[in-house]
Amino acid sequence: MQTFKSNLLNPISPTETQLLKKVFITLKDGKISSISNLHHGDYEDRTDLICIPGLIDTHVHLSQFYIRGSHSPSLLHWLKTYTFQEELKSKDVIYAEKVARDFFADSVSRGTTTSVIYTAPYKQACDIAFEVAQELGVRAIIGMTMMDANSPDYLQQDSTRAFEDSANLFDKWNRKTGLLEYVFTPRFALTCSALLMKITGDFARNENAYIQTHLSENKVEIKRALELFPQYGSYTEIYDRMGLLGPKTILGHVIHVDDEEISILKETESKIAHCPDSNFFLKSGMFPLQKLKEAGLDIALGSDVAGGTSLSMLNVMKMAAFRQNEYVIPPQEAFYYATLGGAKVLGKENIVGFIEAGKAADLVFLKIPPTRRDEAENILSRMIYTHEDVEIVETLVAGRKVF
Ligand code: GUN
Ligand code: FE
Repeated sequence: MQTFKSNLLNPISPTETQLLKKVFITLKDGKISSISNLHHGDYEDRTDLICIPGLIDTHVHLSQFYIRGSHSPSLLHWLKTYTFQEELKSKDVIYAEKVARDFFADSVSRGTTTSVIYTAPYKQACDIAFEVAQELGVRAIIGMTMMDANSPDYLQQDSTRAFEDSANLFDKWNRKTGLLEYVFTPRFALTCSALLMKITGDFARNENAYIQTHLSENKVEIKRALELFPQYGSYTEIYDRMGLLGPKTILGHVIHVDDEEISILKETESKIAHCPDSNFFLKSGMFPLQKLKEAGLDIALGSDVAGGTSLSMLNVMKMAAFRQNEYVIPPQEAFYYATLGGAKVLGKENIVGFIEAGKAADLVFLKIPPTRRDEAENILSRMIYTHEDVEIVETLVAGRKVF
């Protein structure tokens, strides 16, 4: 048992953040056992810090960690010039372990406690990512990127093998520990055959497993997808017909979608990982946040490293606000997407994303520079917009210190 006295920020909704000043948080067996104004017994005084729920990154490429900030005018050029060659390096198990260690060390140092991860298209690289995640004690949903078409030879997999490797990794790691799960990861329609997408969709649906892929990130990508699958009317329809959409599917980007596609996403209850830093960096376009929100879709945030430049979800929250030309995202809303909203996208809102008794003790303690007024909005705003000045003091996952 462990008790802290601190100040809590909790995401009630996209419009409301609760600030609880100088309360006692008691942790027991990896969970929050109580939050109260009174406490008898020992406690650690952290009243100079702010405590927030562990941050959730719903879209990130572990094996791209070292190529952050590689300038390119557009997605497909960036993939060909830097990304595919970098992923090849993870074929070497020593490299794969090093990048996994550096990735997770950086991630927890920035207050991320849950990540949804793509690894390089090699079974061993994915297995190693799981081992490192387990050793560190982070919460993660990890998948081996699958690509069996139109890819460089060194990355392209055999269709059946890509699926079987994924199914083996799923058997080995999915829910075998309290913190780790598997996500089936067909890269995107440009590099996946119909066969691979269909068998993956069927299997994942039967097993109630997560699926992740990229949808409508870049206009040239969309054009190519429709050339490859001319029988379908839209990019979203391709995934729908392949059986890849559903409540456990997390779609990265989703920028250039029309009304019909939005209704398919809504009907299938598919989830969206909005990656504003990446969208900005690769000039992919502006995420139609207002439209997708009004359509009632569940939205969370992703760093999309290395299309995104940093694993910091504070930076991603800032970019979410910056990357809307007119729509105003208040700090409460950005904070919600990176915490409770992220948890909801993953179906984990009963476990993480909010600080209250019964939830997992996934917590971040931060030192935020003083604000003029001591209210939730001022503190949040300072935390997001001047995140370079915020010190992450400690990160806990299930009550265990990971940073
Ligand atoms: N689309 C297909 N693969 C990728 C990737 O690795 N990163 C991004 N941002 N988009 C992709
Ligand atoms: Fe991505």
